[in-house]
Amino acid sequence: MKILVVGGGGREHAIVMKLAQSDKVEALYCAPGNGGISKFAECFPVSATDIDGIVELAKKLSVDMVVVAPDDPLVLGMVDALRKEGFMTFGPTKAAAIIEGSKVFSKELMKKYNIPTAAYEVFTDADKAIKYLKAQDSYPAVIKADGLALGKGVIIAQNEQEAVDAVNSMINDKKFGESGARVVIEEFLTGPEVSVLSFTDGETLVPMISSMDHKRAYDNDEGLNTGGMGTVAPNPYYTDSVQKECMEKIFLPTINAMKAEGRTFEGCLYFGLMITPKGPKVIEYNCRFGDPETQVVLPMLDGDLADIMVKIYNHDLKNAKIDWKQGYCTCVVMASGGYPQSYPKGLEISGLDEKGQVEGAFVYHAGTKFSDGKFLTNGGRVLGVTCNSLTLQGALDKSYKAVSKISWNNAHFRTDIGKRALKALDNDPLNLEYKQDLEDYLEDNGVYLRQ
Ligand code: AMP
Ligand code: GLY
Repeated sequence: MKILVVGGGGREHAIVMKLAQSDKVEALYCAPGNGGISKFAECFPVSATDIDGIVELAKKLSVDMVVVAPDDPLVLGMVDALRKEGFMTFGPTKAAAIIEGSKVFSKELMKKYNIPTAAYEVFTDADKAIKYLKAQDSYPAVIKADGLALGKGVIIAQNEQEAVDAVNSMINDKKFGESGARVVIEEFLTGPEVSVLSFTDGETLVPMISSMDHKRAYDNDEGLNTGGMGTVAPNPYYTDSVQKECMEKIFLPTINAMKAEGRTFEGCLYFGLMITPKGPKVIEYNCRFGDPETQVVLPMLDGDLADIMVKIYNHDLKNAKIDWKQGYCTCVVMASGGYPQSYPKGLEISGLDEKGQVEGAFVYHAGTKFSDGKFLTNGGRVLGVTCNSLTLQGALDKSYKAVSKISWNNAHFRTDIGKRALKALDNDPLNLEYKQDLEDYLEDNGVYLRQ
């Protein structure tokens, strides 16, 4: 198969690398791609939101399948346009991508089908929203723009002033454009967060290995929200009993609800969950692979990603072979100093080899450019330095060792990725058994399996 991957970040790099392992795949292309991806797939300078441009490119390359990875082209209907031209696709149609494209839609869906989530109200009028917040008088208050906002449309207001400012900036000042014309105000939930990506063809759903994102810019979860500063998989808070409850009360009810609404979801459905004292609840749905979750999930997949994608397209996921490797995978994101606000681009990255890699890890490129034989920074999140090992500590040690070999002016990364997960494992009596299992496994198998 010849496959075109749409997008140009660390997630797309991870998808390209997994597809490259498939016997089915003969050629890989990416648009727009980035410096690191260009070492493994031919890249074309077509924007990921240029629907006509991508359709033209797919025709020119006569590809067999197009994988649409980012949210915006999915919400804009790129899959529909490609299907109209007869291409096999991976990703939901516009009608199904609304599950991420509109928070109002997703909240109403959950309410209608009794899927556990935070209680909420929807507002289009700033005065009414403020009146409601004052009457509730309960903080923190959670205020969300309805539409896509690069992961920045959620404000956790600590007091009335912050809540009023958030509502005004979204509805009156249009900080997120039309995305903020409607806002959702919801109950503040507490508990550890878990990301679960799943494969689904609309009828069968196969959850992938769970993961934990680290959204804030600085250590100890301080600073602004970002697209994600690092991930670990699996997430120790996602126990077998939580998984069972999620499958019964959240995952299957969601795909069944989408089908019942005439919006059958095909592709990767991402569940952003919070494990509250009252059980798991949905914080958000995404209509795509997460970034940087994909960078730790796909390396753990023991299966043929191209085959899984074809089976999803053919509504035959139930016959796909999907297993997960033992152990843990960790990704430490190296970002430009200043991210998620303003930062320079074009800084030379040192420490990478000619393929943009470093020994002992796999480096997924998020925002890089290859120019005149050098890798340059070209975005806020620049690299995702990823390793796996039989233990979480082992994977983290490897990731941080690799990070220490890479540098550029004012590079920034969190030094505490995985710390919370390690603590959870230490506090978990079940983990003692797991540690014994691991030791037995090590003894039986020698050392581990890098991707
Ligand atoms: P979202 O983009 O919807 O995932 O929200 C971004 C982040 O805001 C989440 O990862 C949570 O940390 C936080 N958040 C969103 N909704 C809530 C809620 N109802 N209660 C507490 N925290 C929330
Ligand atoms: N890492 C969060 C997301 O992909 O939305």
